[in-house]
Amino acid sequence: MATVSAPNARPPAQDILLAARAISKVYESGRSRLVVLDQVTLDLAAGEFVALLGPSGSGKSTLLRILAGLVPPSAGEVLVHGTPLRGINDRVAVVFQSFALFPWLTVLENVELGLLTRSLSRAERRQRALAAIDLIGLDGFESAYPKELSGGMRQRVGFARALVVEPEVLLMDEPFSALDVLTAENLRHELLDLWRQRRIPTQAILIVTHNIDEAVAMADRLVVLSPPPAHVRVDIPGLPVAERGRGTEHSRLVDAIYQLMTNPEADVAALLPVARPVEPGVPRRPYQMLPPVSIGRLTGFIERLHRLGGREDMFELARALHLEADEIIALAEAADLLDFATIEAGDIVLTPVGQAFAEADVLREKEIFRHQALAHVELIRDIVQELAATPGHRLPEERILARLQAVFTPDEARRQLDTAIGWGRYAEAFAYDDHAGALYLEEPPSSSPPAAGPRG
Ligand SMILES: Nc1ncnc2c1ncn2[C@@H]1O[C@H](COP(=O)(O)OP(=O)(O)OP(=O)(O)O)[C@@H](O)[C@H]1O
Ligand SMILES: [Mg+2]
Repeated sequence: MATVSAPNARPPAQDILLAARAISKVYESGRSRLVVLDQVTLDLAAGEFVALLGPSGSGKSTLLRILAGLVPPSAGEVLVHGTPLRGINDRVAVVFQSFALFPWLTVLENVELGLLTRSLSRAERRQRALAAIDLIGLDGFESAYPKELSGGMRQRVGFARALVVEPEVLLMDEPFSALDVLTAENLRHELLDLWRQRRIPTQAILIVTHNIDEAVAMADRLVVLSPPPAHVRVDIPGLPVAERGRGTEHSRLVDAIYQLMTNPEADVAALLPVARPVEPGVPRRPYQMLPPVSIGRLTGFIERLHRLGGREDMFELARALHLEADEIIALAEAADLLDFATIEAGDIVLTPVGQAFAEADVLREKEIFRHQALAHVELIRDIVQELAATPGHRLPEERILARLQAVFTPDEARRQLDTAIGWGRYAEAFAYDDHAGALYLEEPPSSSPPAAGPRG
């Protein structure tokens, strides 16, 4: 996969407020080791509104925390005006998806909290907090407690607490994704107004988002991370302001980024002509990652696609099914992995096997699924082979988990195993004893090991 960047000249160094230089991050716990970020380099210049996209788990939140100095990188450095960062970055403020408010403090007190580390008198602190509350439309709610507020109002408190410090750089981690669509839209517009009308002294904004539409509608620059271990896959200018949010160019760019994110092998230069390669390709991860998709959802997805004629634009399909980008990507990846569908130029297309699966009755569905799972899912195949070779054909799940933890974090290892158990059970490839946490074969294996089936 190629890494690409905008051909336009980088801003002069003195305008670069915040930079990540070859940042790598490895999470280690016990025997497991997860490389999340692999040499990520990113500049944030004065005047820029940058959107950071990437698949779930690609380390977007980790990168944002590293830029804020909340988490140290394993390698590389963060530069603040060219100087290596040590400890907390006090030129930035962060808005979190979860609002992160203290329930026992009022709105005013929550906002004042942003100023605790500044040497200000109590009166100054209060005055600045009130000004931020006013700016963000929370007037009249100063003495309310978070539980008395709607989600949108709570996130306003999150914004006020960040803006009260007058940060040079505002970092936002999916600030709108916990809100309903209309509330998110409203708050998004207000933030853009504050920014464009320069009613806040903030000089650069970085927003992490799953929502490609949102990214294209807001940002001057779009950065897309690859699947982990993540590097910067794309770094391109956004659309001219007048073309953002609606129209052909907007849809075209959203679509291109969709195609890119759903297809690790996509030809970036063809999809995004403005981009050009700047780094050699990075090898793909050495193991297969199962998307966390349940059988019920996968079956529903394939049947829906079949009813739509077996081919549909991913973005349209996500809209029709009210799915977020990461959800449709996970479903598409699962369908692709099992060879039920392929992804072609932004469309998801059923394969003949996928068609047969969609048309089959329940029994036949299971048979097809079993065949595909054994043919294409390494983890399920490994489990079956290990069970077949084990006396009694029974294994504690810890055995498999320990192996997964060599490549995944403990949480991700558990998620991988849960997904494999869900799929494997449905396929009747093996059974699972919930009580004992053990995997076993219901029937003694036949002499031949499960064969890898033909593709297609
Ligand atoms: N403190 C931690 N210890 C161990 N692993 C972690 C830690 N924080 C994050 N991870 C792992 O690092 C990977 C990247 O996580 P991160 O939250 O940065 O990704 P993300 O791109 O923000 O994902 P999402 O889109 O789901 O928010 C994930 O696999 C996650 O489980
Ligand atoms: Mg995140």
